[in-house]
Amino acid sequence: MTQIHQVAPGIYRISSYEPVADMSFNQFLIEDEHPTLIHTGMYPLYEAVRQAVSEILDPKRLAYIVVPHFEADECGGMGRFVAEAQHAMLVCSQVGAAINLTQWDYAGPVRGVQDGDVLEVGAHRLRFLETPHVHHWDSLMVVDETTHSLFPADLFAHPGDQPAMVQENLSKQMCQWYRDIGIFAAAEPVLRVVERLEKLNPRLIHPMHGGSLPQDLWPKYAHSLRSEPFAFEGKVFGRMLPT
Ligand SMILES: [Fe+2]
Ligand SMILES: [Fe+2]
Repeated sequence: MTQIHQVAPGIYRISSYEPVADMSFNQFLIEDEHPTLIHTGMYPLYEAVRQAVSEILDPKRLAYIVVPHFEADECGGMGRFVAEAQHAMLVCSQVGAAINLTQWDYAGPVRGVQDGDVLEVGAHRLRFLETPHVHHWDSLMVVDETTHSLFPADLFAHPGDQPAMVQENLSKQMCQWYRDIGIFAAAEPVLRVVERLEKLNPRLIHPMHGGSLPQDLWPKYAHSLRSEPFAFEGKVFGRMLPT
């Protein structure tokens, strides 16, 4: 089931919970002069996400589809959203554009951005952070400077069917989950970004999986990343690989 919640002024969380995986897949829609969708969900989720977008605005109006890294849950619907919205542009990191989008079967418009680049979408102002190896080489995060919101994709993600705004400290479950599925090759690139985010001090963090984290809670998640093991220890999706 896909649910819509407003999580900041002009920002909607479109969340689809998948019981088999026991995790939610959240997309974020910024309703503004140039409407922006931050990740799309997997290919099979497209109809549900499009339906949710259409309850807020006409999907034909989408101006930007932000792909923070290339994995099916972040970009599986991108081709169809771009095809329907005549003036839509895919936005990803410059690394992502170079190693992915210009090297396979995609011929639509794309903009590769670097750290510090800004996208004015109307009342909202988006600034990009390059965060390589958190958890992909091409990883990108987005800061909405207007609402002081951070969109970190899979960082701060946690399992379960969570409310739109989490009040609970699920950071130990987050670290355990990361270890079990093996999405971070190493701790160092993640901790480097955590330090940067602490200086930035966002008011809200909107992970792609789980609930959004308010300012009084997310430092606990940052603390767990510093104090608990979370990096790859030989498991992929819970399956220990031979050494
Ligand atoms: Fe991912
Ligand atoms: Fe994801």
